[in-house]
Amino acid sequence: DGARPVEVAAPAETARRAKIGVYFATWWALNVIFNIYNKKVLNAFPYPWLTSTLSLAAGSAIMLASWATRIAEAPQTDLDFWKALSPVAIAHTIGHVAATVSMAKVAVSFTHIIKSGEPAFSVLVSRFFLGEHFPAPVYFSLLPIIGGCALAAVTELNFNMVGFMGAMISNLAFVVRTIFSKKGMKGKSVSGMNYYACLSIMSLVILLPFAIAMEGPKVWAAGWQKAVAEIGPNFVWWVAAQSVFYHLYNQVSYMSLDEISPLTFSIGNTMKRISVIVASIIIFQTPVQPINALGAAIAILGTFIYSQVTHHVCFEFIAAR
Ligand code: 3PG
Repeated sequence: DGARPVEVAAPAETARRAKIGVYFATWWALNVIFNIYNKKVLNAFPYPWLTSTLSLAAGSAIMLASWATRIAEAPQTDLDFWKALSPVAIAHTIGHVAATVSMAKVAVSFTHIIKSGEPAFSVLVSRFFLGEHFPAPVYFSLLPIIGGCALAAVTELNFNMVGFMGAMISNLAFVVRTIFSKKGMKGKSVSGMNYYACLSIMSLVILLPFAIAMEGPKVWAAGWQKAVAEIGPNFVWWVAAQSVFYHLYNQVSYMSLDEISPLTFSIGNTMKRISVIVASIIIFQTPVQPINALGAAIAILGTFIYSQVTHHVCFEFIAAR
């Protein structure tokens, strides 16, 4: 009889949704903690290339130790896997450094307002690089996202071009990373958690020489001494916290990416930014002009509209990937 599969499928789907809900809530909470400690560190120690490297190093160390002690099962990978991972790792490295350089230059809230434009990049990259077509309402729904981000940017009191461009480059790089991660994970035996671990390790190898070239051990040693003198021994804990929480939130986000489409991921990521923007404005007492807040609100509201419009497109994405 035809009714039975529906009855059986419904609780499974409810459980899947509940699991994704838990992943999203954990991802967002861990991300708020990361952002707070990352900015505390950058305020005292303005070397984003090193803090980015340390985040990847912490993740790599945690995962290598988990595999060695069998807390987590190591993935079975071959040369083809690592070859396919390399463009994803380049995109992850660029996106991560660009966002961190941005946050070193401007308020955390400003970086995240610009980063709330990520769904627009997701559609544009899918359209122009992958030749995917969307119905007209999807393109129209991008207008408030782009308009809101633009309004927030032009009314930002502490506007800084490096801060703005870093967030924009990060948007582009992370969309490419997410789309190709999903392709790389689809139908493979490597889980979201292990996929992100491999991504961290490869990104660390890519980033380290650039970090040394851009900043270097001499600058780091002098900056570190100064920061410890100003903040005290707690500074070391802040660095540890930003590094470990970076890994944890990304790991959980990849566990959800295993279950959802890149588009849903980008929407979830923008919703996440509401909590980051609010928390960082309160903690860092960031001055906000009403017109600036309006821009951010329009951009985020635009993402709500966009998520409604793309609802059925998302299902097509899931079915197609
Ligand atoms: C990073 O350093 O990678 C960014 O701060 C994180 O950006 P996300 O909020 O898009 O993960």
